[in-house]
Amino acid sequence: YPVYAQENYANPREATGRIVCANCHLAQKPVDIEVPQAVLPDTVFEAVVKIPYDQQIKQVLGNGKKGALNVGAVLILPEGFQIAPADRIPEEMKKKVGKLYFQPYSADQTNIVVVGPVPGKKYSEMVFPILAPDPAKDPDVAFLKYPIYLGGNRGRGQLYPNGSKSNNTVYNASAAGTVSKIEVSENGESSVTITTAEGTSVVDVIPVGPTLLVKEGQAVKADQPLTNNPNVGGFGQTETEVVLQNPARIQGLMLFFASVIIAQVFLVLKKKQFEKVQLAEMNF
Ligand code: HEM
Repeated sequence: YPVYAQENYANPREATGRIVCANCHLAQKPVDIEVPQAVLPDTVFEAVVKIPYDQQIKQVLGNGKKGALNVGAVLILPEGFQIAPADRIPEEMKKKVGKLYFQPYSADQTNIVVVGPVPGKKYSEMVFPILAPDPAKDPDVAFLKYPIYLGGNRGRGQLYPNGSKSNNTVYNASAAGTVSKIEVSENGESSVTITTAEGTSVVDVIPVGPTLLVKEGQAVKADQPLTNNPNVGGFGQTETEVVLQNPARIQGLMLFFASVIIAQVFLVLKKKQFEKVQLAEMNF
């Protein structure tokens, strides 16, 4: 969950560029983000985040039953950018946003936003309403091209913050040896006893969820998977860019273009006039 990231990491983007969700959501799946090429200061624009997956598939839930996937995301905006306050969002955009609830990553990082978990069926594509800062009011912001980083996830993670495995991952043999006993308890938990060549035995406890791949009497190597990997979800990250554009620059560019066109037109007119003079002065 995004809250696991908020509780355990001050900054969701590591120095390597990796977004921390990937530490517990081990499978990789694509995500996509669309933003305008350029935005004007103090305007509200949309960032469209896509977390695609096959809506037919189901995942293993905490209780071992199968269920639908949820999605969640973290969006790292440039400093000064933030989720638009409700009274600034146009009605049309509000409809696209739906009931999504955006949360700042922490009290002092309002430019980093998290959402989720929310039902993937409804929010496989989500719209973030973003307010661009105004360099006239905020001296720390400049008219520049800025990066935006997205991390998006569907499905349950493989590790809990304390390092223990969830039941949505593969379980491996903790020692080499022979599977001497498999006991399935009432709640579906399997205890796989592996007897090593030295005669010692270890018990690997596998919660309900992953499917056992080994049988009693079977020889296993250390770290050999004892179960399948039930995880159907995955995490992905991507980045894009947005230009915080100064309207005066666009107006200046337009004026320059207009002056070029006018200058060219006058040059042509002057040439035509000069040709007339040449014609008049000609003697046959
Ligand atoms: C579950 C997103 C970070 C561990 C989930 C779910 C979402 C999600 C959407 C629900 C999936 C479902 O029910 O189908 C994210 C995002 C993260 C993030 C966007 C980063 C901002 C982390 C971190 C950890 C973690 C850092 C580990 C420390 C888990 C686990 C579950 C889970 C174990 C399953 C919980 C359960 O059902 O018992 N996450 N997550 N996540 N996440 Fe994350």
